[in-house]
Amino acid sequence: MTTAPDANAQITGAAASPSWRAALVKQFGHPTGLVGRLAGWIMATRPSNRQRNAWTVGLLSLQPGEHVLEVGFGPGLSLAHAAAAVGPSGTVTGIDRSAVMLRQAARRNRRAIADGRMALRIANVEALREGGDRFDAILAVNVVGFWLDRRGTIEILRARLAPGGRLAITVQPRSKGATADTTRRVGAELERDLEAAGFAAVRSERLALDPPAVCVMGTTA
Ligand SMILES: C[S@@+](CC[C@H](N)C(=O)[O-])C[C@H]1O[C@@H](n2cnc3c(N)ncnc32)[C@H](O)[C@@H]1O
Repeated sequence: MTTAPDANAQITGAAASPSWRAALVKQFGHPTGLVGRLAGWIMATRPSNRQRNAWTVGLLSLQPGEHVLEVGFGPGLSLAHAAAAVGPSGTVTGIDRSAVMLRQAARRNRRAIADGRMALRIANVEALREGGDRFDAILAVNVVGFWLDRRGTIEILRARLAPGGRLAITVQPRSKGATADTTRRVGAELERDLEAAGFAAVRSERLALDPPAVCVMGTTA
């Protein structure tokens, strides 16, 4: 099933946008070339984005030795927080469809990669359908609005979690005029998606930004 374009547009801000804005939004969804490098720099330095990423990793209460996957790591802020939380006996894996983001994230996390505690690769989230390692925790920050089949993708992520694993999906709606009410609607939709995908203990937390960000979390049985 494909997610309705309007549902994604209220998250990404691509709805009814002038073409320059649509082009910029596209760069945040798949950074390429010089403008993509600029988008990565903006994401890495914007205080709200730094806060959102640190907050999401904190909500997962990662423990030393755990294995974590981030989908759509962008410039790699959450990867760094996750690596610090799981420590030398844990691992962090990241996938992102952008080669430009892979380079920025790899630079930011070169020590963890050199130590063999972090592995990053270019891939679309749908590649996770093919199977492979299972993780204690999976996170995605401001990425879900770019997934064409949101519910199907959440099901793919569930299959990649170990029993008792946690999923955290954070969104700050970027559509023009987005308010706390937009955040509430997006959070409620995501909660329904997680429940439909079979997650237990589904709940949301909010971060006081303008508009607020929401992190929707669930656990596998
Ligand atoms: C708005 S950025 C957010 C980056 C990072 N999570 C952050 O908060 O700083 C979205 C990122 O997700 C990646 N992305 C979007 N759709 C994806 C998909 N279907 N599969 C893999 N990566 C994706 C993009 O390449 C981009 O790096």
